[in-house]
Amino acid sequence: MRTAGLNAVKTAVGLAALLGSVHSARAQDPVRAPDPKNGAVIIAQGIGTGVPACAQCHAFNGESDGSGAFPRLAGQSAVYLAKQLRDFASGIRNSAVMTQLARSMSTEQIADVAAYYANMNAPFPPLKPLDPTLIMRGKQLARVGSTSDQTPSCNACHGPDGAGEPPDIPYLAGQYSPYIALNLQMWQRGFRKNSPESMAAVASRLSPGDIQAVSAFYQQVRDSLAASVPSEGH
Ligand code: HEC
Ligand code: HEC
Repeated sequence: MRTAGLNAVKTAVGLAALLGSVHSARAQDPVRAPDPKNGAVIIAQGIGTGVPACAQCHAFNGESDGSGAFPRLAGQSAVYLAKQLRDFASGIRNSAVMTQLARSMSTEQIADVAAYYANMNAPFPPLKPLDPTLIMRGKQLARVGSTSDQTPSCNACHGPDGAGEPPDIPYLAGQYSPYIALNLQMWQRGFRKNSPESMAAVASRLSPGDIQAVSAFYQQVRDSLAASVPSEGH
């Protein structure tokens, strides 16, 4: 099933994947260039019985759905997406849904789906009515941080209004607020252990009200150049 001329290492990795034992492969880089077309097939159909179609929860275009239970993946960097799938597989990031699923994917399959979603440009579902006071508080944290407890501004790392600093730092602009809030709580409680220096430290400084505010702020940023927030104050 593979092209001729593979060296011994590549053959061993291919065999491991065929046998369903991809642990040796996972720590390594993919042995071929990412194939977004294969990613599209996995996203639409899943893989065998172990991996359901990603589109069930994240949609084919990575928009996910307005419930906010599933993160938006469209346009997120391929490096970041692939790292998260490997982190689910290794257990450094925990999820009842994603852990098992990521463990059933090879390094190549992970790279393929990541490449596909990274290239997507999906619309945003309509927003529910916003609470302007909450948005203003979130905007303050996002842009300025909080001097009282030395919380850095989120944008210092996540880019202008959370546009992202690819490849390593994800966008928050337009991400679903329940998902952002859940992940900040996951860092606080130690269920998401990737990014111990940056995100675990930042999350530990946020109160429940801060989390609610900053998550609500980022969800409604749909164009970081024209953030649709009230312009009084900051
Ligand atoms: C049954 C629903 C479901 C399916 C199917 C599913 N996911 Fe997820 N996915 C989730 C949930 C829920 C989360 C959030 C987990 C968390 O943060 O606790 C998530 C998180 C992710 C993340 C992390 C995104 C980020 O911003 O950090 C990636 C990447 C991802 N999924 C990719 C995939 C891919 C690729 C597939 C298909 C192979 C897939 N998912 C299938 C529900 C699903
Ligand atoms: C010092 C840099 C830094 C600062 C400041 C920072 N972040 Fe992050 N953030 C990161 C990095 C790096 C990641 C990616 C971690 C990983 O690889 O999983 C991240 C990831 C995240 C994620 C996960 C997104 C996803 O798709 O799963 C959320 C949510 C988040 N940050 C929210 C915030 C908020 C809110 C603030 C401000 C209160 C903030 N961050 C400040 C560096 C930072």
